[in-house]
Amino acid sequence: MSLLVNNLAVFHEGNSSNVSILFIHGFPYDHQMWKHQVSAFKSTHYCVSHDIRGLGESPAGDGQFTIEYFVDDLEQIIENLKLDHPVLCGLSMGGYISLRAVERMEEKFRALILCDTKSEADNNEAKLKRAAGIKRINKEGVQKFAADFVPNCFTKESIEKLGEEYISILGRSMNSNPEGVKGCLLAMAGRTDTTDYLSKIKIPVLVLCGEKDTLTSPETMKAMADKIKGSEFAIVPGSGHMSAVENPLFVNEKIGEFLSKELSA
Ligand code: MLT
Repeated sequence: MSLLVNNLAVFHEGNSSNVSILFIHGFPYDHQMWKHQVSAFKSTHYCVSHDIRGLGESPAGDGQFTIEYFVDDLEQIIENLKLDHPVLCGLSMGGYISLRAVERMEEKFRALILCDTKSEADNNEAKLKRAAGIKRINKEGVQKFAADFVPNCFTKESIEKLGEEYISILGRSMNSNPEGVKGCLLAMAGRTDTTDYLSKIKIPVLVLCGEKDTLTSPETMKAMADKIKGSEFAIVPGSGHMSAVENPLFVNEKIGEFLSKELSA
C-alpha cells in the first residue's frame, strides 16, 4: 500500500499496531531494495519504506537536497503515520540519514540497524568524485552514470545469481530523475560527520556489512561498531555493498534475531 507524505512516495505493509520498522534505501535506488525484508517481517512488524526525495517515485523538485532535509522528511513520515518509536534500518546513504536522525532525535527511535554505511563525512577525494559524477550526468546523462555506479555495489557472483532482479534494479537506477540523482550526490558530499555521536548512542544497534563491500569495507564498519556501546556486528557472507539484496536470507536472520532479543528486553 502506498500514500503520499509531503509529496513523497511512502509504502507500508503489515499491521500498524505492531512494532514498526522504517527502512531507508541506498543511492541511487528506491524502496524496492527492501522487498525481501518487507516480505519477511510484514507479518510480525509494520514495515514502512519510502522513496528518498528525488529517487524512485518521489519528486526531485528543485534538486537542492541536504541530509538534514532527508531527516526532516523522515520526521514527517513518523508523525504522519503516527509511528511509535520505530526501528530505523538504513543502508549506505540510508545509513547516513539514519545516523544523523539518531544524532538529532534519538528519543524517537527504538533501535537502529546500519547496513553497509559509515559515520565519516566525505573527504576531499570523495567530494571530487561526487563533483565528477554531477559533471558526467550533465554531459552524458544519468543512464551512463548509473550503468557505471551500480555494478560496483554488487559482487560479480551476486549479479549473476540475481539475474532479472539485478537487471530490474539497474534499469530503475538508470531511469532515475537526473536532478534527483545530482541532488543526492550534493547532499552526500555536504553531509556532517556523525562519528562523535557513536559513543553516545543508547538504543540497541545492529551493524551489518557485506564481506566483499568495497564502498564501506568490513574494517571501516567494524571500527564504527566498536565505537557504539553494546552494538552487534556481523559480516554478510558473499555480499558486496548491497547486503540486503545480495544475501537477504542471512540479513533477515540477523535482523530477526536482533529484533527478538532487543525488543523482548
Ligand atoms: C549508497 O549505496 O547509498 C552509496 O553508495 C553511498 C555513497 O555513495 O556514499
